[in-house]
Amino acid sequence: MPETKLLFEHAHDPQFRTLDGYLAKGGYQGLKKALGMDRQAVIDQVKASGLRGRGGAGFPTWIKWNGIEKEKKNPHYLICNADEGEPGTFKDKQLMEQTPFLLIEGMTIAGYATQADAGYIYIRGEFVDAARSLRQAIDQAYVQGYLGKNILGSGYDLDLYIHMGAGSYECGEESALMSSLMGERGMPRLKFPHAPLPTVAGLWDKPTVINNVETYACAPFILDRGGEWYATLGASTKNSRGTKLFSVSGHVNKPGNYEIEFGTTLVELLDMAGGIKGGKLKACIPGGSSVPIMTAEQVEKAVIGYEELWDDYKTMVGSGGCMFFNEHTCIVSLIWRTAQFYAMESCGKCTPCREGTKWMLQILDRIVRGHGQKGDMDLLLDVTKQIDGRSFCGLGDAAAWPVAGAIRAFPEEFEHFIEHGRSMVQSEEAKAMAPRWAQPAFSH
Ligand SMILES: Cc1cc2nc3c(=O)[nH]c(=O)nc-3n(C[C@H](O)[C@H](O)[C@H](O)COP(=O)(O)O)c2cc1C
Ligand code: SF4
Repeated sequence: MPETKLLFEHAHDPQFRTLDGYLAKGGYQGLKKALGMDRQAVIDQVKASGLRGRGGAGFPTWIKWNGIEKEKKNPHYLICNADEGEPGTFKDKQLMEQTPFLLIEGMTIAGYATQADAGYIYIRGEFVDAARSLRQAIDQAYVQGYLGKNILGSGYDLDLYIHMGAGSYECGEESALMSSLMGERGMPRLKFPHAPLPTVAGLWDKPTVINNVETYACAPFILDRGGEWYATLGASTKNSRGTKLFSVSGHVNKPGNYEIEFGTTLVELLDMAGGIKGGKLKACIPGGSSVPIMTAEQVEKAVIGYEELWDDYKTMVGSGGCMFFNEHTCIVSLIWRTAQFYAMESCGKCTPCREGTKWMLQILDRIVRGHGQKGDMDLLLDVTKQIDGRSFCGLGDAAAWPVAGAIRAFPEEFEHFIEHGRSMVQSEEAKAMAPRWAQPAFSH
């Protein structure tokens, strides 16, 4: 399948970033239709579309929107998760910089459907250009009656605010994000079933919908063209509908964001990105650094879909941060780097993650130093099992999966490193990726 452009159709047109340019390309048709509909009918369209959250977990969007109390007794809130902290992912950045009105219109549709009074866009602190682009777009939307009081004469009011994060990966986790937004430390809260869902008690303990940038950006198309139309995209897959943005990086000739229809193969995505650079394909991390790595043989056969990647390869679409690696990559040092990231980003609240991420890093440290011990692979796998599913929030799982996945997919590389005290891959690329203190393991 070729690249399918829906969200990105006008991304490279600078006029599309202005309200007039957006309207000229058919913008705000979705909101106009939504405002003429019953709120439940809007949610039903999203249900018919099969849209699933694009932030990583793939949760059905309509269930969240439908979970907000219908008879309004409290203020309702809307949050856009624009923290985009997962290494390898940079599609929300481009969406906000180049198509800000898709996000604003999508949030307004969601706000109308859930009777939200205010929406907060929590943006990763480094995304200054994205925040600037959104600021200008929000200001224009207020002036022309697309935000604020009585939007387009409908009687619906919505205010949108931008909040800049301060560079913590954990603040992308929805409950930590809400804590941070309320001025507290960016640490996660107790989850359902031990605590109410955000749709019941979220921001300031009021009903709250939280979605990713790309999720909201799909809503204008769903409302304008209909949920059933949207569901025709990706219909060849088990349960993944629409298009998905993939940030393609690593050893490819044309790194960048690509929009594909679900059902496209990983090989087709690699071709869009100009193919592999500097050698043969060795591995792929399809959905951001937290998802398990795939071998080249698996990539050859893989179809992109939530169930397709999980059922067949125990990996995930995740946030769409797709990294391809050539044959000169040392998988052990790649995983060392990944483990280092998660150990540093662990917030320290719960023991399995706080201790486990450090233990994994210590074991990987000694392997990469050339001092690995017999039994280190089993020990690493054992630690991943103590973290996965036993941590307070998803960061623990995210830290355990890449380590367990790499040992599963490339056991011979770990065995070689431990047995010989040096990498199986002796190349300049592998050396460059390894920490400086591990260079002896890459010298002939
Ligand atoms: C440690 C951690 C970091 C996360 N970071 C992000 C992020 O940067 N952006 C995002 O949209 N979702 C992130 N998520 C997922 C959110 O918790 C949440 O599921 C998502 O915002 C829901 O939106 P969606 O249903 O539209 O995907 C993260 C989850 C975890 C556990
Ligand atoms: S899993 Fe990690 S990031 Fe999440 S609460 Fe526990 S220590 Fe903090």
